[in-house]
Amino acid sequence: MDTYRIAVIPGDGIGPEVLAEGVKALDAAAELDGSFRFAFTYFPWGCEYYLKTGKMMPDDGLDTLRGFDAIYLGAVGYPGVPDHISLRELLLKIRHEFDEYVNVRPVKLLKGAPCPLKDAKREDIDMIFIRENSEGEYAGSGAWLYKDQPEEVVIQNGVFSRKGCERIMRYAYQLARDSGKTLTSISKGNALNYSMVFWDQIFKEVGREYPDVETHSLLVDAASMFMVKDPGRFQIVVASNLFGDILTDLGAAISGGMGLAAGANLNPDRKFPSMFEPIHGSAPDIAGRGMANPLAAVWSASQMLDFFGHEDWGKKLLSAIETALTGARALTPDLGGTASTAQVGDEVVRILKAAR
Ligand code: NAD
Ligand code: IPM
Ligand code: MN
Repeated sequence: MDTYRIAVIPGDGIGPEVLAEGVKALDAAAELDGSFRFAFTYFPWGCEYYLKTGKMMPDDGLDTLRGFDAIYLGAVGYPGVPDHISLRELLLKIRHEFDEYVNVRPVKLLKGAPCPLKDAKREDIDMIFIRENSEGEYAGSGAWLYKDQPEEVVIQNGVFSRKGCERIMRYAYQLARDSGKTLTSISKGNALNYSMVFWDQIFKEVGREYPDVETHSLLVDAASMFMVKDPGRFQIVVASNLFGDILTDLGAAISGGMGLAAGANLNPDRKFPSMFEPIHGSAPDIAGRGMANPLAAVWSASQMLDFFGHEDWGKKLLSAIETALTGARALTPDLGGTASTAQVGDEVVRILKAAR
């Protein structure tokens, strides 16, 4: 029997609440299949840990994680610890150090999920964002000069390497080819005269290897507008770290909300563990009340099953989410229901078992 060793980092706020339901779903899939199992090891890292120890994770945290087959993360960040410390020292550190350079974020309006766009057809909202996840605007390069002086200057550099751009574009082109979909690149080459001009150039260069893929390029401002006015024009989308971050929250908004938006941080070379997480944050406004929607965390668990080669179970879990949405027997308040986080998780497991 295959055993997948998963490092679980529940993190802060609603992180632990939603992850518990994802773990239930993974265990249920494994139990129903019978040929594989999960071994979960929990790490109590995050803001509370920081307040106790002065660190978001121990100094050898990355070495500890390295041996796992995957990481399952809830959310990081909480009032009381500055966000740029909590995120940089845990979530972004893992993405960066484990070279999880591909962030796969589906934006798909599942059956039964609410959409605020009055004219949108369900099948028009079906995209996959491929977000560059290792450099760009998030490279962390810069300086803070003459702090608190009248001459104070801050510099935040965007870092776009040829290697970094080529590999994310190639991943996106390959996905577009394999799925027979169009590829749209998100740019801002009219204003960002180095980074985004280079981005556009690499998009064209790599495109020569994929003459069969239909491509489009949109400026990020127009892309935001079209995602609302004409979402059907997007299929596979490749974007830089920051643009991908922003557009996928917009994507969440048009496809059921933050409680339904999943993401996979992949190290495609499989040299390091990949990390699966809902894209939402710790939601301090609703944390601790058992009312967070766990479906984003469950969807990212389905991405984990895909990643381990159990696409059949990945699909079944996603379809169980869809059945839970359409059946509406247990939905959290963000989806208009009154169920608790755990009741939604139980409903997904019930559906998974019933579909057997
Ligand atoms: P957020 O995603 O936590 O919350 C935004 C809004 O969406 C809130 O009203 C929240 O209640 C709602 N929401 C989010 N997830 C939900 C769910 N599963 N069910 C129901 N409602 C949900 O974003 P924020 O408020 O900007 O950030 C809060 C903290 O989380 C900050 O510290 C931020 O830095 C951090 N953050 C972490 C991650 C991550 O760990 N991946 C992602 C985004 C933000
Ligand atoms: C996300 C989050 C993170 C990001 C933050 C918390 C650093 O917003 O995963 O979308 O910007 O990548
Ligand atoms: Mn985000």
